[in-house]
Order: sequence, then structure tokens, then C-alpha cells
Amino acid sequence: MKPTVEGEVAEGYGHGKVILVGEHAVVYGYPAISTALDRGVRARIRPRRGPTAPSSGRGNYRVEGAIRALLPEYGFQVELESTLPVGRGLGASAALAAALVRADAARRGESASFETLHERAFAVERCFHGTPSGADHAVALLGCTLRFRRGESLEVRPLPPLGFALVVLDTEMPKDTEQMVRAVAARRPAVDPWLARIGALAESAESALDDLDALGEIFDENHRCLAEIGVSNEPLDRLAAWARAEGATGAKLSGSGGGGVVIALSRDPEGMVENARRQGIAAMVAAPADGATEWAARVAG
Ligand code: MEV
Repeated sequence: MKPTVEGEVAEGYGHGKVILVGEHAVVYGYPAISTALDRGVRARIRPRRGPTAPSSGRGNYRVEGAIRALLPEYGFQVELESTLPVGRGLGASAALAAALVRADAARRGESASFETLHERAFAVERCFHGTPSGADHAVALLGCTLRFRRGESLEVRPLPPLGFALVVLDTEMPKDTEQMVRAVAARRPAVDPWLARIGALAESAESALDDLDALGEIFDENHRCLAEIGVSNEPLDRLAAWARAEGATGAKLSGSGGGGVVIALSRDPEGMVENARRQGIAAMVAAPADGATEWAARVAG
């Protein structure tokens, strides 16, 4: 969606995401495949007298830190609206950063490139996550399914939209991305073969985005690899096993692990979510955002 300026209000949007295949390995230069969700964060910046501040959510260090990183100290009120749960691996903080950098660019009447906005959103995210790969910000800005790789330069390739909705099963446990990324770093080089395998799975996932069975198998193996590098836990394993027992073609933790969510592929996503809720599991259907935005088209060249 295009950032807009209405009167004196500047607006920007950032999409939530799920990582389909490749979390953690992406931090070490392997590719990851992510898809944007039709949920996200909208930011509106309006001039006001007095110190720059959010209209609500005061005391939230992430929101305040992101605003401080981007806007002048005085003169603006920031309104935020989110349809994403926070701290669940669905990219809420990257979506916040993307919404803010786009609103800020609109405020200044600037038509910034994807690379510029990505660098700015990434800088905001570093306040929260230490050494993020930048994958989440690319999805948050582009609003599509994409392949991301952080090499010497950034490789971002929009892919055809995922052909189906995902079931998201929530452990309802918060996760801490920075801590999980640090824990994996501390287990290297022992976990390197698993990281390489995850990278290879991301390569194969690219041609399986319209194939529920093939992608399901990749999800299952990706989950096993994530367990081997130490980022799964009993609640995540239990939800993934529950989904498979309910007929999912595959299921895996998504995001940094240690809490957060499992994503599952089902021929009947609504039915699976209903069953999950009946059994007291927090669940939702997550629809992928509907394809490449103009930004994605530009990056695709
Ligand atoms: C977090 O959504 C994904 C990780 O790979 C970290 C990152 O890419 O920055 C765990």
C-alpha cells in the first residue's frame, strides 16, 4: 500500500509475516522464504505542539524506542493501529518499523526507494532485536511472498503468492528473538550442519509454494531441524504434533521459537481452527496478503 499524506496526516502501513522456511539459518546467509499476512500495523503521524509521543501505548519501550529512532523530539503525535498479536513471531515489531518509516517518508514528501526504507526499518529493529537478518522488514514493506538472503548485498526476490491460507496455532507464550538468536550463535559450530540443511529446505520450498503436500513435508523437516538447533520446546512440539494428527500435511514453529506460534498446512484451515479452539488451543487462519505491491514489482524489476 502506498504511503499517503491526507492534509497534515502522513500514513504508512507494514505487513505482518510468517516465515515459511528458513528462520535462524537466514541470520547466517542462507535464504528464507516468508509470506506477508493480510494483517499488520498502520501508523499515522500528525503535527502537534509539544514532545513527540504516541497517542496511546505510552510506556511501551518498543513503540517509544521506534518513534525516538525516527522522528524529531518535538512536534508530532503518532497513532498506531495493529491487527497483529505482539511477541508471537508474526512480525509485529518489523511491521511497526515499516509502518513508521513509510509514514515518516510520506510526512517529508519523500519518495524513498525500497532499499532506503529497508535500511531505516532495519535500523529501528536493531533497537529491539540485536542482530536481525532484515528478512522480516523486507516482508513488512513489500507485502508479498518472497525469498530473502542476506549476503554481501541484500537479495530480495518477490515470489508468486502462497496458494493457500495457513493455520496459526499459538503457544500463548511470548518469545524473545534476540535471546533465541544469541542461543543459536552460542551453539555454533555444532549446529552448522542443521543450519545448512534449513537453507537447502528453503531452496526447495521455492518451487513448492502451490503444493500443500510437498510444502508440508518441508515444514515437518524444517521443524525437526529447528528442534535440533535448540529453538523448539515442548509446547511448540505438542502443537505441531497435534496439527499433524488432525490431518495437517505439515507443521512447524515459525519465527524465533522458544514460544510464539506453529504454522500448519491443512486442506480445511477453518475446520482445523474450529477444532483447535474447541480443545482450548488459541488458533487463527492467516491469509497471505494478496500479492506483490508496487514495491515488490519494482524490486522484481
Ligand atoms: C525472527 O522472525 C526470525 C529469525 O531468523 C531472526 C531474524 O531473521 O532476524 C530467528
